[in-house]
Parts: sequence; C-alpha cells; structure tokens
Amino acid sequence: MQVLVQPILVFVLLWGESGAVDARPNIVFVLADDYGFHDIGYHGSRIRTPNLDKLATEGVRLENYYVQPICTPTRSQLMSGRYQIHTGLQHSIIHPAQPNGLPLNSPTLADKMKEGGYATHMVGKWHLGFYKQEYLPTNRGFDSYYGYLTGAEDYLTHKRSGFLDLHDNLDPVFNETGHYSAQLFTQKASDVIMAHDSTKSPLFLYLAYQSVHGPLEVPEHYMEQYRDIKDTKRRTYAGMVTCMDEGIGNLTSALKTAGLWDNTVFIFSTDNGGQIYEGGNNYPLRGWKGSLWEGGLHGVGFVHSPLLHKQGYVNRALIHVSDWFPTIVGLARGFLNGTLPLDGFDQWRTISKDAPSPRKELLHNIDILYGRSGSPRYPDTFDTRIRAALRVGDYKLITGNPGNSSWIPPPELQDLRDTTDASTGKPANHPDSDHRLLFRPSDQNVWLFNITADPEERHDLSDSLPEVVQQLLSRLLYYNSTVVPPRFPKEDPNASPGKHGGVWGPWE
Ligand SMILES: *[C@@H]1O[C@H](CO)[C@@H](O)[C@H](O)[C@H]1NC(C)=O
Ligand SMILES: *[C@@H]1O[C@H](CO)[C@@H](O)[C@H](O)[C@H]1NC(C)=O
Ligand SMILES: *[C@@H]1O[C@H](CO)[C@@H](O)[C@H](O)[C@H]1NC(C)=O
Ligand SMILES: *[C@@H]1O[C@H](CO)[C@@H](O)[C@H](O)[C@H]1NC(C)=O
Ligand SMILES: *[C@@H]1O[C@H](CO)[C@@H](O)[C@H](O)[C@H]1NC(C)=O
Ligand SMILES: *[C@@H]1O[C@H](CO)[C@@H](O)[C@H](O)[C@H]1NC(C)=O
Repeated sequence: MQVLVQPILVFVLLWGESGAVDARPNIVFVLADDYGFHDIGYHGSRIRTPNLDKLATEGVRLENYYVQPICTPTRSQLMSGRYQIHTGLQHSIIHPAQPNGLPLNSPTLADKMKEGGYATHMVGKWHLGFYKQEYLPTNRGFDSYYGYLTGAEDYLTHKRSGFLDLHDNLDPVFNETGHYSAQLFTQKASDVIMAHDSTKSPLFLYLAYQSVHGPLEVPEHYMEQYRDIKDTKRRTYAGMVTCMDEGIGNLTSALKTAGLWDNTVFIFSTDNGGQIYEGGNNYPLRGWKGSLWEGGLHGVGFVHSPLLHKQGYVNRALIHVSDWFPTIVGLARGFLNGTLPLDGFDQWRTISKDAPSPRKELLHNIDILYGRSGSPRYPDTFDTRIRAALRVGDYKLITGNPGNSSWIPPPELQDLRDTTDASTGKPANHPDSDHRLLFRPSDQNVWLFNITADPEERHDLSDSLPEVVQQLLSRLLYYNSTVVPPRFPKEDPNASPGKHGGVWGPWE
C-alpha cells in the first residue's frame, strides 16, 4: 500500500514545485478575542454557534488545547512559535503607549509563509507593538493588513481613547465609522479571498476578530434570540458571539465561492479565556481571562480540512498555541531555518491522524514582575512566591498568585436555578456561589492538579504528592534559567495620537 502511494506523492510534489499547480494547502487562521470556554455550542452553551459547531464537528475538536491567559502573549506565541520567557513579553500585555513589540530578532510565522511563496494577508487585531514602523504587520511578513494595532477599541467608531485605530496597510481609514467590526473584518477577509490568485501562490490568511472582547456592542438583531437571558452583559455578549459565528459562515462561503475550500486548512482558536466581567464564561473551568487557572488558558480550538486523514473526532492530545508556527510552516512545506529556537511542536500528525502529541510539557509562563505571593515553600528550588505554571503530562503546577480562584457559572444557568435573586447578578443558590468555602489560607502559593482527572482543578494534590511538586519545581527552575529579562517599558507621552494626526501609529 505505502509503496504504491509514494511515487504518486513524489509526482505531486514535483509537479507542485515545477510551478504548474501549487498543491500546498491554503491556511486560514481565525483567532477570536476573549472567547470563553463555555461559550461555544458544542460545550453545552445557551449561546448558539451553528457555523462553528458544524466546522468543529466535521473537523477535529481540540479538547486539550492551550493558549495564554491574555491577548499579547497568545498572539506573540502564535507569530513567533516561542514562549514569552524567550521573547521578553512574559508580563502583561503591550499597552498602547509602551515602546514595546514582538522582538525583531526572529522571523514571524508570516515571514516564513512569505518566504515559502505564500500570499500572506492579515485582517483584524495586531497587538504585537507598533511604536516603530518595523513592528507593523506589513513589516512582519504580511503582504497586506487591514485592522487595528492596539488591544481594544470601539466596534463602530474604531477609536481608542478618542483616537482612530483602523488601518489599511499604512493608511488610516476614516470612512468606516458605524461599520461594525465583525462585519467589516469579515468583508475585508472575504475581499482578500476573492482577489486571491491561486494559480500564483497558496493563501495564508490570518483573521484576528475584535469579537468578542469588550466593549459590549452589537447590532440589536443579533441579540433577539437571547431575550430570555436576563443579564444584560451576557445577552449582548451572546449577540456578539452569534455575529462572529455568522461572519465565519460568510468567510467559509467566500472560500467555497473562490474555489479554495477543498484545499484549505481552517484553524479556529480563542486567544484566552472569557472575561466574566464582560459577558464571557468558562464554566465549569476555574477562573477566567488573566489567570493561570484553566479558565484563563484552556482554550476553545478546532481544525477543519478535507486534508485531515481522520475527521469528525475529539482530539485529547496536549496542544499549545506555540505549536501552530511549526505546524503551519510544515503544512506549507517550508523550512524552520533562521528562527531562534522554537518552543512549539509540529502537531499535524497529532491532529490529522490522532497520533500522540510530541509535546510532553507546557510552560504556561513565569512572570517575575507579577506581585509575589506568600513565602517560599521549598528550599533550594524555584521560588514559589513567583507567578508561574507548568504542565508535565497529566500534572499541572501553579505557583505564586494565580488570580481569582472561583468557578463562575454562566448567568443564564443562574436564571434557570434562581429567579428571585437574578436581579443582583450574583449567583445565589448555586453550589459554587459561596466563594468562602473554596479558599485555602490566603498565603497558599503552590497547587498541584492532575488535569486529566480533574480539569476543573477541584482537588489540590500539593500536600499529598510533595515529591511531584518538587519535580515540577525543578523543571520551573530549569525554564527560569533560560529566560530573557522581561521588557515592560514605561508609557511614552510621545505615543499620544494627538501628536500624530489623531491616529494611533508609530511614534519613533
Ligand atoms: C472607504 O474607502 C475605501 C477606499 O477608498 C473604499 O474601498 C471603501 O468602500 C470605503 N468605505 C465606505 C463605507 O464607503
Ligand atoms: C454575512 O453576510 C450577510 C449577507 O451578505 C450579511 O448580511 C451579514 O452582515 C454578514 N455577516 C457578517 C458578520 O459579516
Ligand atoms: C531558509 O532556507 C531557505 C531554503 O534553503 C532559504 O531560501 C531561506 O533564505 C532561508 N531562510 C532563512 C531565514 O535563513
Ligand atoms: C530566575 O532567574 C532569574 C534570572 O533571570 C534569577 O534572578 C532568579 O533568581 C531566578 N529565580 C529562581 C527562583 O531561581
Ligand atoms: C473572585 O471573583 C468573584 C466574582 O467577581 C468575587 O465574588 C470574589 O469576591 C472574588 N474573590 C476574591 C478573593 O477576590
Ligand atoms: C491522572 O488521572 C488519570 C485519570 O484518572 C489517570 O489515568 C492518570 O494515571 C493520572 N496521572 C498520574 C500521573 O497519576
């Protein structure tokens, strides 16, 4: 069987490289913003996502998939294939006025795709720095860019703090006020697809939606089917999710119309957990956006493609956002030369054939700038006051201050359980609503979980398995020995768009 297949493969490869037809797949990567683990139809949500559900069900649902707890970090790892401890972006996000960016010392995913002959286009949120021209998407491997550079803004005015942040390549876009970004970005991504000439090159499209990050805004009609959700934020958020889902339906239609769909690998991912104060939810996971609990970093993700050997299944192999870099470059039959050492693994066989993951460990982060917590617990090893988390096989170790430790059920579940107290927005009768019961002494700064057995992080094993804690701490010590100093510069008053024509953009 193998022997028969291989000559055909070789023929296809040679034919592809001769320029007649490029058989390499198109890659379409859609990143949602602040999209919660609970908020997709197939996770049992009240929020309806028919397009996402269909794609995920036909493709491969990634159910042991990890991202970073906040925006810049996930995007930095997607674009670099490298952990934050190796790029200096381990602390917080890039704030608009900070002279900071994804370092220029290693090519981005887009650089590698372009080097491999792909047409490379980006639409949506960048959030990887823009203080100098060199950091803009069109100087980081993208042939074209349409979107915003900061982390959040108004969905209709495309303004942040009163200043415009919407760009068509290097030009500010003043004429799209009132055009809701999920619709605008879907339109722009569809335009890229329709204009793509597949006889010249395959397509790499990175669509980073603004949806469903705050501020909570959506055209009224998307909320209609959620009138029964009493919580206003949750209802608006549900509408935002539905609008994004519709956009993804439109995007896949465009790919079909353009004749690209049958040779496309479509990847969907969130950037981090949902923000419960902005309508998002990650139940039954613990914590939310920003925390090292699973609710912050156990992400929604799936792959759809006719090129998958095995389809329509749930994949439970450990996969991380840093893995997309080598996975996608591998699909493009590119080379990983010229990058600084990658922390990601090529996961195509894992996903396409349900093979075991090459990834045995996952460093969630080490953030030495984050406020320390408690007192050191173990002598001569990693300092447990430092905010860090590491996964080794089934085990996850958390040190320092992981963030708010609550399990927050979605408001609509609360509506069903308790109609009397829903007006306060506070969970009342739910078993998880008494947060006091869940707290250990406040100076606790080490937790150990078997995530495979206990994905909700309800059974801390750190007291019963001190030797496992020690082993994982020594792995953290090792990772800590490889860190580059975190870069978190002061905000620069010269960044103010007031000094640059009222538009956010490079100032150095
Ligand atoms: C804004 O201007 C661009 C470039 O001229 C054009 O393609 C686009 O259709 C305009 N948008 C609106 C809403 O008029
Ligand atoms: C999807 O396409 C329809 C039909 O063109 C359009 O009315 C709708 O606004 C689009 N939705 C999004 C989110 O782009
Ligand atoms: C990587 O290797 C390819 C093929 O040998 C070459 O064309 C390219 O310039 C190299 N890229 C880097 C960044 O070294
Ligand atoms: C982690 O590494 C830094 C140097 O990058 C060092 O200053 C610090 O002491 C190390 N922390 C621990 C707990 O080993
Ligand atoms: C955690 O967040 C919940 C929900 O906002 C809040 O009720 C609780 O007081 C917070 N706990 C701590 C320790 O801040
Ligand atoms: C974690 O829990 C799973 C499920 O109960 C079990 O199969 C596995 O052996 C456990 N892992 C370790 C390292 O104990």
